[in-house]
Amino acid sequence: MAPQGSAVKRQESLQVVLDYHQRSKHRFEAYAAGPDALDWDDQPEPFRWYDGAQKVDLPLLADRLATPFVDLYQTPGARPQLPLFERLAMLLERSLGLAAWKSYGGARWALRCNPSSGNLHPTEAYVVTSGMEGLAAGVYHYLSRDHQLERRCSFDSQSLPKLLPEGGVLVGLSSIFWREAWKYGERAYRYCQHDCGHAIAALSYAAAALGWSVELLDDWGDDDIARVLGLDRDGDYGNAEREHPDVMLLVGEDRKAAESPEASDVVAAIGTADWAGVANPLSERHMHGWPFIDEVAHACHKPQTTASSYVIPARPEPLASDCAEPAMALIRQRRSAQGFDGRTSITAHTLYRMLDMTLPRPGVVPWSSWPWQPRIHLVLFIHRVEGVKPGLYVFLRDADKQTLLRERISRQEFNWQRPAGCPQHLAFFSLVFANCQRTAETLSCQQAIAGDSAFSLGMLAEFDSVLQEAPWRYRQLYWEAGMLGQVLYLEAEAAGVRGTGIGCYFDDPFHQLLGISGTALQSLYHFTVGGALTDERLVTTPPYSHLAR
Ligand SMILES: Cc1cc2nc3c(=O)[nH]c(=O)nc-3n(C[C@H](O)[C@H](O)[C@H](O)COP(=O)(O)O)c2cc1C
Repeated sequence: MAPQGSAVKRQESLQVVLDYHQRSKHRFEAYAAGPDALDWDDQPEPFRWYDGAQKVDLPLLADRLATPFVDLYQTPGARPQLPLFERLAMLLERSLGLAAWKSYGGARWALRCNPSSGNLHPTEAYVVTSGMEGLAAGVYHYLSRDHQLERRCSFDSQSLPKLLPEGGVLVGLSSIFWREAWKYGERAYRYCQHDCGHAIAALSYAAAALGWSVELLDDWGDDDIARVLGLDRDGDYGNAEREHPDVMLLVGEDRKAAESPEASDVVAAIGTADWAGVANPLSERHMHGWPFIDEVAHACHKPQTTASSYVIPARPEPLASDCAEPAMALIRQRRSAQGFDGRTSITAHTLYRMLDMTLPRPGVVPWSSWPWQPRIHLVLFIHRVEGVKPGLYVFLRDADKQTLLRERISRQEFNWQRPAGCPQHLAFFSLVFANCQRTAETLSCQQAIAGDSAFSLGMLAEFDSVLQEAPWRYRQLYWEAGMLGQVLYLEAEAAGVRGTGIGCYFDDPFHQLLGISGTALQSLYHFTVGGALTDERLVTTPPYSHLAR
């Protein structure tokens, strides 16, 4: 009986996910359910902290690191040998730390190295360490506003070392759904998952600059992550908004053959520890509840699973980039363009380089941190790329899926031609030649950024087949989309242009444009890249000038 019961439960969960997905679609007739008006008094506090937890100031050192951005794509080689504590500080500073403060009129807001839908930042980060010089063993919450670690849990430094490789730490990520739901209502769950994907990639890039690698521990279950990070400690949250476990990452020297720490061993080692700190409430009240988000989150609960056996295939060397910027500078300067000039073009080589960097290569960031095979492909609206005719194109991130995609992207007029001069290893095809700026804008909720750029794109996921494997993989697809977004953001900066993630798009009209019916393929995220306009009215100040450090 037991297996049958669990099969029924799984089917029910799958149905909840499918219902959520349909219901959270934006349609021409109506946007997904959200608040009718924003209650500004109730805007969530952008930062989480734990009152009563011991604070550890981290040094601000990342600007000193000269590793060139283009070197990150080489397998971690000789990198400066820095004390572990300094490395950890730099890792956090240039992945989840502040990048700048902006102000306009009476308003002032922080921007971070990782992007976030609406700049609402649902993602929280934790570090688990068995101790290093400057940092005692414990579980720490990262408070990006002050570049501090807050010691949530202290445990005997002897209990964990055997479980973590020398010098390695665990970094756990969680999401506070309310931060996004406050503004975006039911669609917010999707954005939280995107942001998590961006954060994974942000950590992967910053770690590479330090000679570290990041491994997503995909066998861990949500309950393990919640237990280790203390997210299941009801008494520490009171009225504060709860955090939902996302992923656990192992960060440290590239270990290749070494064993990854078992979730149950880490849970057991931390089991008897002392905890400190009480979470701050982010909003005094919640005008709207979004129970469907809780339902889909429940349906997407991830149990412990066996680790993925996917092996990234070898590929030709990445196409060259002439970016000479240090990685840490490029990461900090990354911004979302809020408008594009409608003029700037990029070269075909720049486009191909960006596409190339979305392909996994063994040992190469950020996909070296991603345990699963690529399940998302790109549909591009080419507007201004020298040597590539304007039109609609498709880029397959797994060339073996060509038959599947050709069957599903099924309009007769699509020509499926490889553009002249396209590098052999890129499965890039034109579908139709046309000026598609207006179409791109219309499909991206009428946002001009999708048409005034050099190109924009939609990310098409192998939806049904991935969800059939397990309902929680709905999250995996958004994480992959967020990681793709992070690659495009940084590659755009490296090419001297700028990108913007687009979470607001009309789902099914985009599918209809491609002749896609059913849910075998579903668009999960859009993105745009081009020559940015800058808003001269905004005043920018450095990220940590408010700290006397
Ligand atoms: C998942 C996601 C969805 C986004 N959707 C949009 C969008 O639809 N339109 C837009 O103008 N910006 C969008 N953005 C950009 C954010 O508004 C931007 O990241 C945020 O304001 C922080 O600014 P920064 O990226 O410069 O740090 C999105 C970003 C993310 C990560």
